[in-house]
Amino acid sequence: MPLIAPSVLAADFTNLTSEVRKVNESDADWFHLDVMDGRFVPNISFGQFIVKAIESIAEKPLDLHLMIVEPEKYVPEFAAAGADVITVHYEACPHLHRNIHQIKDLGKTAGVAINPHTPVQVLRDVINDIDMVCIMSVNPGFGGQKFIQKTYDKVRQLRQMAAEHQCENLLIEIDGGVSMANATELIQAGADVLVAGSAVFRADDPQKVIRDLKNAGQHTTQI
Ligand code: DX5
Ligand code: ZN
Repeated sequence: MPLIAPSVLAADFTNLTSEVRKVNESDADWFHLDVMDGRFVPNISFGQFIVKAIESIAEKPLDLHLMIVEPEKYVPEFAAAGADVITVHYEACPHLHRNIHQIKDLGKTAGVAINPHTPVQVLRDVINDIDMVCIMSVNPGFGGQKFIQKTYDKVRQLRQMAAEHQCENLLIEIDGGVSMANATELIQAGADVLVAGSAVFRADDPQKVIRDLKNAGQHTTQI
């Protein structure tokens, strides 16, 4: 079964406690937290202060997606704020290998995200160093965008590349425009973690959407 990580970016921030509680009481696996700096992406979201506040009421691991330049300046603070998984962007890291090991040295799960125009092959020489790859299925910066169809191919290519490098435990996360319209095909292609913002928090029954996403791969086993 895939791991489901609701993206808090789409939550109602005037009611954050009740939004976090909905996820606590659901079948979700992680909280996905999107940090945006207005430099790497054209939008600003929230920082350590909010992450720490969410951590104080969250009962599931925090999956932190850093859409920021120079993430090495902030990784220690976010780790201290309670992040469990820390993902940096390939495109924002000229010294990616160093960034990955900074996260691992802090005892955290290290992820690398790639933008829609970035081929999975650029990660070949670090694939053995990382725990997770986040394939962006929209251009990062905003919730509620349309899923990019090319993502399926990228998942298959990455799954094959991981197998070639004996990285069977590499997690493949998909972020952006995920819903029941694409969840099953993503899981079939080899995705392990589905991030969903609007599909969860804008639904009448977020917990049902989480449950449906979790079960989306159920009837897809090879015949
Ligand atoms: C986009 C963020 C996503 C976003 C997903 O830059 O990284 O995590 O919150 O939101 P939806 O599911 O609405 O596309
Ligand atoms: Zn994200």
